[in-house]
Amino acid sequence: MSGKAKNPYAKPDRFTRDAKEQGFKARSVFKLSEIQSSVRIFKQGQRVVDLGCFPGSWSQYVLQQIGSKGVLVGVDLHEPQLSGGTWIARSVLEVSAEELIAALGGPADLLLSDMAPNTTGVVEADHYRQIELATCALELAEKVVVKGGSFVVKVFDGRDAQAFQEQVRKVFGTVKRYRPEAVRQVSREFFLVGLDKR
Ligand SMILES: C[S@@+](CC[C@H](N)C(=O)[O-])C[C@H]1O[C@@H](n2cnc3c(N)ncnc32)[C@H](O)[C@@H]1O
Repeated sequence: MSGKAKNPYAKPDRFTRDAKEQGFKARSVFKLSEIQSSVRIFKQGQRVVDLGCFPGSWSQYVLQQIGSKGVLVGVDLHEPQLSGGTWIARSVLEVSAEELIAALGGPADLLLSDMAPNTTGVVEADHYRQIELATCALELAEKVVVKGGSFVVKVFDGRDAQAFQEQVRKVFGTVKRYRPEAVRQVSREFFLVGLDKR
C-alpha cells in the first residue's frame, strides 16, 4: 500500500466525488453548506471575507450565495484560480483590518475562517498553531464585521479550544458549535459560528 493510500485525508469519499461532480475545488464546501442549511448566514449582496480561501471551494460557494451585488475578499498564502473575488495572497498575520475593509468597500457582514496550518501529526503542536490562526481570525472579525454580523471559524479541538470559544462569546451574542458530516472521522476539527456581533 502506498503512503498516500494510508493517509485518511487523501481517501476519496462521497463528499470528494460530489464536489468533483458539482465543480467545486474541494470537498470542504460541504462543511460550509451544512452550516448554511442550519443557520442561514448568507444573503444576497453581502460583503464577505474568506480567510484560508485556497483552493477555493468555500469562495465558490460564497459567490453563489451573495450573488452579483455581493463582495468577496479572500486571504491565503496561495491564490485561488477563481474569478469573482479579490484575493490577498499573503499570511493572515500580515493583513490588517483596514486593508480588508478597504478591499470590501465597507465593513463585512460575515467573516469566515477555514484556516489550518500544515499539520505535523503532533496533535498538541497542531492544536496550538491552529488556535493561533483562529485567534487572528477572531481579532480581525472584531474589527471588520458589522454589529449584528456573523463569523464562522474552524477550530482543532484541544486544550485551548474552550478558552477560545469563550473569547468568541465576548464578541458575538450567540455562539454555536458544529461538527459537519463532511468532517473526516479522524479529524479533531469543529466549527464555531458566532451570530449577532455585539
Ligand atoms: C483547509 S484549507 C482551506 C480550504 C478552503 N476553505 C476551500 O474550501 O477551498 C486551509 C488553508 O489555510 C491556509 N493557511 C494556513 N496558514 C495561513 C496563514 N497564516 N494565512 C493565510 N492562510 C493560511 C492554507 O494555505 C490552506 O489553503
